Amino acid sequence: MGLGHEIGSAGAGPSQPRPASSAEAIPSSAFPDQEHPALIVREPVETDAPSIGTVHVRAWQKAYRGGLMPDEYLDGLFGDDRAQMWAEGLRRPPRATFARFVAEDDGGSVVGFVTVGPADGELNSSEGELYALNVDPDAWGRGFGQALLLAATDALSEAGFREALLWVHPGNERARAFYERFGWGSDGGQRQEEVLGVLVPEVRYRRPLGIDHDFASTAVDSDAVGVLSIGLRLPVLETAT
Ligand SMILES: CC(C)(COP(=O)(O)OP(=O)(O)OC[C@H]1O[C@@H](n2cnc3c(N)ncnc32)[C@H](O)[C@@H]1OP(=O)(O)O)[C@@H](O)C(=O)NCCC(=O)NCCS
Repeated sequence: MGLGHEIGSAGAGPSQPRPASSAEAIPSSAFPDQEHPALIVREPVETDAPSIGTVHVRAWQKAYRGGLMPDEYLDGLFGDDRAQMWAEGLRRPPRATFARFVAEDDGGSVVGFVTVGPADGELNSSEGELYALNVDPDAWGRGFGQALLLAATDALSEAGFREALLWVHPGNERARAFYERFGWGSDGGQRQEEVLGVLVPEVRYRRPLGIDHDFASTAVDSDAVGVLSIGLRLPVLETAT
């Protein structure tokens, strides 16, 4: 649930050529019941940093209020701090096997982001990790989280990982239900992790990769998800060249 190394930009380590930006609009037919006719998942560029910072803080303030994290800590989060961290990370291309995506609504606003890479940031790890996934609370329940999660697991799969893990606060029921809906499950792992300066409990979730996503129980019909999945695979394939 943190960020830290997870922005995944290249330091002195190996890098992989990636386009500055790649985007694939999801046709409006994918979301027939929505007011918002399309969403875009693409790789972020440096100018996205302020929006990403704002999304990060707003998502945390909504998700972790009510005892999951201290109110004074949440009140003290500033989008500008997060934005600065992202701006630094986005000046460099992501390292090989790391990936990051943002979701845009049809008005062109960045409303969510996801970051992935090798587990614990260890380049030689055989497992992938979903480091962070956040959607602006005003956009929750409209499919952005699902689209970002698809992009994330596709990227990890394309990078060669066969399994992925993530850490989630045990009291973050919305996120846990969301992940469980998409085939993730607790493997019993637990830890206390310092996340941006605060010690929080976390439970580990795990999911095999390279298998079809199970959308049978989602609100989105399978034809629509087919379009969604194809649309999201394109940026990942482009970056592999
Ligand atoms: C967890 C989180 C990422 C989910 O994002 P989201 O954009 O709300 O997720 P989605 O919209 O894709 O799916 C959530 C719900 O919308 C529904 N949905 C999905 N696609 C939809 C669509 N096209 N149209 C309408 N509803 C849709 C889902 O079925 C699901 O229903 P539910 O509310 O009954 O569970 C988001 O709540 C969040 O950012 N939380 C705070 C940060 C956080 O906890 N991150 C995870 C830390 S490990």
